[in-house]
Amino acid sequence: MSHSTSSAAAGDIPVFDRIDDFRAWRREQLKQNKTVGFVPTMGALHEGHLSLVKAAKEECDSVVVSIFVNPAQFAPHEDLDQYPRTFDTDYQSLASTGACAAILLPRVSEMYPSGITLDRSQQRGTFVDVLGLSHQMEGIPRPHFFRGVATVVTKLFNIVQPERAYFGQKDAQQCVVVRNMVNDLLLPIRMRSIPTCREADGLAMSSRNRYLTPEMRKVATLLYRALGAARQSVVGSGNKERKQILEPAYGIIEEVVQQVKDQQLGFDVRLDYLSLVDVATLTELEQLEESQPAILSGAVYVGTTRLIDNILLNAEEL
Ligand code: PAF
Repeated sequence: MSHSTSSAAAGDIPVFDRIDDFRAWRREQLKQNKTVGFVPTMGALHEGHLSLVKAAKEECDSVVVSIFVNPAQFAPHEDLDQYPRTFDTDYQSLASTGACAAILLPRVSEMYPSGITLDRSQQRGTFVDVLGLSHQMEGIPRPHFFRGVATVVTKLFNIVQPERAYFGQKDAQQCVVVRNMVNDLLLPIRMRSIPTCREADGLAMSSRNRYLTPEMRKVATLLYRALGAARQSVVGSGNKERKQILEPAYGIIEEVVQQVKDQQLGFDVRLDYLSLVDVATLTELEQLEESQPAILSGAVYVGTTRLIDNILLNAEEL
């Protein structure tokens, strides 16, 4: 696939790898009074991403998808180099929706004019940090992560200037961080979070699922099942105490960890964390108040692949 920077033949999606060229296209949308919906991605697209594109198309005239593997959200020991880069199939998937008007494929050198190194102590330039929401849950094992996300999303918003932006609920903390950032920085953008797309057995779709072997894939639903059991302990049994709510979830995970060990499948399953937080403040809850909107979430390792998932309590959208 060549990366055309000019509008290609009818039916093709223009791909912009220069920010100036994209801005010229964006000005045309404005002249034609078209609203723009934006779906930021790191590529390796799956049905979950395409559901965001379709949701955007229902609410906006033109949908822009960015594909950018953002170095600033990876730590030196993480999988930046191994992160899947699958532009040709991503392009075909977007074309198949018939809903994508333009693809933004920016270069690292344009996105980070001051340069970018993964070693935080050596970083130079401007970063966006959403304090109070970035250092719990996913921010504990990945303290650099939300600063990288908030920074790149701000840059992308500045380029794309969307009326609306679409994020997957699977990354619940990311939705809360971005929503607060939009609010704090007075960005004229309506933030939308779209429900998680799941495989038939409940596994949340993720670009990292492709790393699972068939044996790993069989047990990978453990987190979704664990979170479902915790929700059931609230809605079915009326439990309000954190310990009681999370107990059945820990039970399911311990059972699977033991089964995988006993069957000597050649990989381990390990719980990273389970969390129950208030939707607005992301503070851990010891007690769930009546109708309090909350997020039940967690992360597990299946082999070396880290899977995350969440379920909302008393809330429809993040
Ligand atoms: O969710 C993602 O894929 C990324 O965190 C995002 C929002 C595209 C920023 O790099």
